[in-house]
Amino acid sequence: MKRRPLLAGNWKMHTTVIEACHLAAEIGKCSTALDDRDVLLAPPFTVLSEVAHVLKDSKILIASQNVCWEEQGAFTGEISPTMVRSAGGTAAIIGHSERRQIFHEDNEMVNKRVHGALRFGLTPILCIGETLEEREGGGTLKVLEEQVRGGLAGVSSDGMAKTVVAYEPVWAIGTGKTATKEQAQEVHAFVRKLLAEMYEKDIADSVRILYGGSVNVNNVDELMAQADIDGALVGGAALNAESFCRIINFT
Ligand code: PGA
Repeated sequence: MKRRPLLAGNWKMHTTVIEACHLAAEIGKCSTALDDRDVLLAPPFTVLSEVAHVLKDSKILIASQNVCWEEQGAFTGEISPTMVRSAGGTAAIIGHSERRQIFHEDNEMVNKRVHGALRFGLTPILCIGETLEEREGGGTLKVLEEQVRGGLAGVSSDGMAKTVVAYEPVWAIGTGKTATKEQAQEVHAFVRKLLAEMYEKDIADSVRILYGGSVNVNNVDELMAQADIDGALVGGAALNAESFCRIINFT
């Protein structure tokens, strides 16, 4: 099954309005010829609509870095799926390890967010990943299975078909330490097999599973060459137009 690659840049808590517009414009310029892959940017909430505006004539997709499950209400500090849509977003990163670790979001909350995104027509990008301690203790696959099953609880086959999964080993995020292509492929194949058990095989075969964690210009090609790696979720290297452009132009 041929899956369309998805290269996503997560800007995290970086960029002022001016910086964001500049970076988006630079990335827009180097993405014009890419017809066989999707490119997505997840800027901070404050610049979602500016970035969407700068890129309105491009095919680059816009995502929020998180999303609430409610459409509106007393949820100070949150952003609703409708707000993301109205700012030009079509996707939302959910369950990023920084949300899980620093802000104590658990699988149950992540699951609510996934449902919220789907209900309002946003593509959930469900992040999963083990810590170094979990990997060294041999618990990697168990933790990932819990995150997949927990994050997707109650999600229908239809919903799953619209969802993207991102495997981001916590020990590889922002550390410069990438999972080897073999380590990443092993997990991606495991997740796909698990999805085939939870849903139908053709859905599992069509779901895009991204790798994230210190993806850079030097490792993107070999990661993308793995059978079950369908894209990348890029942090640090997405803040520099030149490196992100090289990444989205992986060969
Ligand atoms: P990194 O971040 O590329 O800086 O490791 C990836 C991510 O957290 O999405």
